[in-house]
Amino acid sequence: MRVLVTGGAGYIGSVTARVLSDRGHEVEILDNFSTGHREAVLPGARLHEGSLLDDIFLAGVFERAFDAVLHFAAFSLIGESVADPERYYHNNVTGSAQLLKAVSGTGVARFIFSSSAAVYGESDTPHLTEASPTAPVNPYGQTKLTMEGLLRTAAETLDMRAVALRYFNACGAMGELGEDHTPETHLIPCLLRSLLEPDASFSIYGDDYPTPDGTCIRDYIHVVDLAEAHVLALEGVDRPGLEILNLGTETGSSVREVIDTTAVVTGLDIDPLVAPRRSGDPSRLVAGSELARERLGWRPGRSDLTTIIGDAWAWHRAHPRGYADKSMGR
Ligand SMILES: NC(=O)c1ccc[n+]([C@@H]2O[C@H](COP(=O)([O-])OP(=O)(O)OC[C@H]3O[C@@H](n4cnc5c(N)ncnc54)[C@H](O)[C@@H]3O)[C@@H](O)[C@H]2O)c1
Repeated sequence: MRVLVTGGAGYIGSVTARVLSDRGHEVEILDNFSTGHREAVLPGARLHEGSLLDDIFLAGVFERAFDAVLHFAAFSLIGESVADPERYYHNNVTGSAQLLKAVSGTGVARFIFSSSAAVYGESDTPHLTEASPTAPVNPYGQTKLTMEGLLRTAAETLDMRAVALRYFNACGAMGELGEDHTPETHLIPCLLRSLLEPDASFSIYGDDYPTPDGTCIRDYIHVVDLAEAHVLALEGVDRPGLEILNLGTETGSSVREVIDTTAVVTGLDIDPLVAPRRSGDPSRLVAGSELARERLGWRPGRSDLTTIIGDAWAWHRAHPRGYADKSMGR
């Protein structure tokens, strides 16, 4: 299939573009490099450089015929979305609506969207399923939920097969492709970076949560497992309309467990500080992912903490300043 990957210069989009290409799909990338990296773009892929907010640019892109769109492009920092919700609505909702408008009538038959566990609110349930109530607690999650609604309508009116994949915590790396956000707010890259910087410290935000060791529990999913779910969704989903699937491991790991595994994998002593809780951090977010297994035949095979942290550590050691180190002759 000829596939357009929006956000293909970003973390998850770049890995998925690589996996799609390895599967024999013809991949083209759309990105404006607002948070992405030129070094992460699939070598040899046609690059459409511009923004989803530019409708003339988008019309030009869709003069080419695509069988499918995988839509990763978005802003995704929760704190930033709280500080500047309008910017998030504009980029994520208006940008996505413009993309759907540009797709209309072009023959795109499949559309896969990067949604998020952030669409769920606070919950006491051990596993969040697709049937759990949606009640985002920040503007970022609200933009994702709004886009799901837009996509449902578009899929129904355009007779498209659409899938919204709600990822839990993406992590890990694939060879030369790794996680490099600015600022970085995700636990594993923050921890690994702190180990590579002399004099850097690392803080646990809250150790008084109602969990066995007092630290927050999350569901960590290897980026290659996520990429493979996209390929399966692209190739396998056959129902017109929108399907929503969680992507997680159904296993929660606490911050302390991540730190302990990191110490083993890196062979380094880690002595974290304990800071107060951050507002809006639920104590536990773990996916019920049975539906993705059933509908896609998906089995996340790399999402144990040792593999995730080992792959991420290899990437961070090779790129201590992220993709900026590309120029240093690696
Ligand atoms: N990283 C996670 O743990 C996680 C979890 C749940 C959902 N998601 C979602 O997955 C997607 C990818 O996340 P990521 O971590 O790879 O993010 P990322 O910031 O690394 O990648 C996003 C890419 O989109 C591009 N982009 C943003 N706005 C654009 C616009 N208006 N026009 C063109 N390009 C634009 C950026 O330049 C970047 O290359 C996002 O939609 C994010 O919300 C991520």
